[in-house]
Amino acid sequence: MFKIKTHFHFILFLALAPLGLFAEEGMLIPSVIQAFESDMKARGMKLSARDIYDVNNASLKDAILHFNGGCTAELVSDRGLLLTNHHCGYSQIQSHSSLQNDYLKNGFWAKNLNEELPNNSLYAARMVRIDDVTKAIMFGINEGTPEAERRQKIAENSKKIIEDAQRGSEYKAEIKEFNYGNDYYIIVKEIFTDVRLVGTPPNAIGKFGGDTDNWVWPRHTGDFSVFRVYAGKDNKPAGYSKENVPYKPLHYLPISMLPRKSGDFTMVYGFPGTTEQHVVSAQIKHIVEKERPARVQMRESALSVIDAGMRSSDEVRIKYSAKQARIANAWKKWIGQIDGLVSLDAVQVKKDYEAKYVKRAETNSSWSKYATIVDKMNRLMIENSKVDYEYAVMVEYLTIGPEIFSLARTFAGLEKEIEDGLTGEALASKKVALQSSIEGFFKNYDGGIDQKIFQKVSETYIKLLGEQGIPEELRNIDLAKYTQKLYDKSFLTDKDRALSMLGKLNSKKIKSLKKDAAYSLYKGVLNQLITSVLPKYRVFNQQMEESLKVYVEGKYVMFPNEKHWADANGTLRITYGALEGSSPTDGMMYTEHTTTDGILAKHRTGNADFELLPDMVEKFKQKDFGPYAQDNELWVCFSGSNHTTGGNSGSPVIDGEGRLMGLNFDRSWESTMSDYMFDPDRCRNIVVDIRYVLWVMDKYAGATHLVDEMKLVK
Ligand code: ARG
Ligand code: GLU
Repeated sequence: MFKIKTHFHFILFLALAPLGLFAEEGMLIPSVIQAFESDMKARGMKLSARDIYDVNNASLKDAILHFNGGCTAELVSDRGLLLTNHHCGYSQIQSHSSLQNDYLKNGFWAKNLNEELPNNSLYAARMVRIDDVTKAIMFGINEGTPEAERRQKIAENSKKIIEDAQRGSEYKAEIKEFNYGNDYYIIVKEIFTDVRLVGTPPNAIGKFGGDTDNWVWPRHTGDFSVFRVYAGKDNKPAGYSKENVPYKPLHYLPISMLPRKSGDFTMVYGFPGTTEQHVVSAQIKHIVEKERPARVQMRESALSVIDAGMRSSDEVRIKYSAKQARIANAWKKWIGQIDGLVSLDAVQVKKDYEAKYVKRAETNSSWSKYATIVDKMNRLMIENSKVDYEYAVMVEYLTIGPEIFSLARTFAGLEKEIEDGLTGEALASKKVALQSSIEGFFKNYDGGIDQKIFQKVSETYIKLLGEQGIPEELRNIDLAKYTQKLYDKSFLTDKDRALSMLGKLNSKKIKSLKKDAAYSLYKGVLNQLITSVLPKYRVFNQQMEESLKVYVEGKYVMFPNEKHWADANGTLRITYGALEGSSPTDGMMYTEHTTTDGILAKHRTGNADFELLPDMVEKFKQKDFGPYAQDNELWVCFSGSNHTTGGNSGSPVIDGEGRLMGLNFDRSWESTMSDYMFDPDRCRNIVVDIRYVLWVMDKYAGATHLVDEMKLVK
């Protein structure tokens, strides 16, 4: 079996681009970081590869945790103090907030361990080790093994490898595919489930700039929140208990209070989610012209209602803040990606590369499978453009459309279980659990808002899919009347009706569930997705995955001297570059850092996203920056040329000696296309300077005891 990973050692580095002086594309797997040590050292790193990743001794990696599977967080004290972004802890902060205790608006700071707030179903995972297990996974498989048998063998081998890795430990193991099945790695993790909220700044700091500034440089957001990992008395993971004690980490990051300057080495260590560097030209064209614009329109419909509602009522603001942020975030990113891909002329860049790839493949008869793969992938995409589009629009409808769909999903799950024979005691106890989730649902629900969302988003949905693509229920109707009736009558739109439906539901009463108009619409949409879209979509995806395996293999085989890296897949990665600004468009220069003066300047514009609390204006004007200042100013954010993506939020930005400089939390508008195509000239990650974080804790919030827990390097 061909193993492409070995080529990591033969990498030659591309000539440095003029402006992205220090930018380096790629998200590297920690266990192969050795291969990059000398390059990193040449750029100013003083650490060794072993300081960064070591299985047998404490190393940097032990301070980096996967935060609830979606963000990154880092340990900064010997008592389990954990930093991540404000937007990563947002749903926890929101769930502890109420009109009485408005932590979103005013912030929250636990004065001692007793005041730290437990969080249901929040976890933080440490990577114990990451190892290449391709050989063991491929055991019993060769070039001629048929696809179905191949999959079966891989599943069997994985199961055994996982069992071996977990035996006799509390660790959890997982096998992950890299490079579209060319490589496999085992990830062994230690999962902490008692993670408590310690502190958060007010939204006016943690979300300063809101949607106006999201994905934008220059930036002034203090995007951080503070948690603490607790463990049992034996320092091992344990479920929440009063008896638990702060976790004592193997390693935690010291804090860099040192002056910074453009060109300083930076490294981002975290859990990037998804990149798709290998999509072919037809796919870029499809994304830019069809798929993304449709998704953007769906979200615009939902946001127009939510935004207006949040502006007009504090209650709605609190209920919808987390939901709004989730919907708006991808919406704005996608617009940036479309722009970026167009301005990079990405379709043409891909076409040129594809031509080069095919030409090379034709020079060697053993490369014939590479010679045909590009054309096959482009054709696949063109043939499946419709199904991919429909899939995207339907998923948007079901996930960011009216919220009654998510309640319908809960009932659909129960319906299925009852049909499968759930009765008596078992059914009763299931209902107890569902009752609290339904109550939770209505805590953050506003019927008037959801009704407007329904009407607005359904209108867009019908327009985007046309009569053929929508279920019976939506055809030839007066949407306004239909909506009104639905929200007046359905059990899904009212807490009491929903609970009463839950109470009476059994095999005999399933009929009344099915008679409900909103419920049957949900089923109709889902049914269309499942019957007329998903089967084709799945085949398409599988064929694309199989093709990608060959295509990517060809890149490593035919261009061994080019730099290759595995797409992000939610596993721990390292990316490095420098603290630096950029020139994103002709005639425009972005400097590399911002200060508190910029906060006041934005505040003066009067835009509600730049609102400050009165005491903040005072504090910023006083300029009492103490040890956190550099040249009499307080850095708020800086940008870096590190290749990051979603999931890197909260990732530590680490200097050449392993000290924490700040928390990654965003990319600039001009860089969002880096999920498909990295451009060293303009791709910049956005970081909140740790000195600003500490200033907010210490001088603004008076939570000096937290700063005292950390190790500051001056
Ligand atoms: N754009 C950042 C990321 O992708 C931050 C999102 C949170 N901020 C916001 N205004 N929604 O997650
Ligand atoms: N804010 C993003 C996150 O939550 C990081 C920004 C990006 O996509 O680079 O992971």
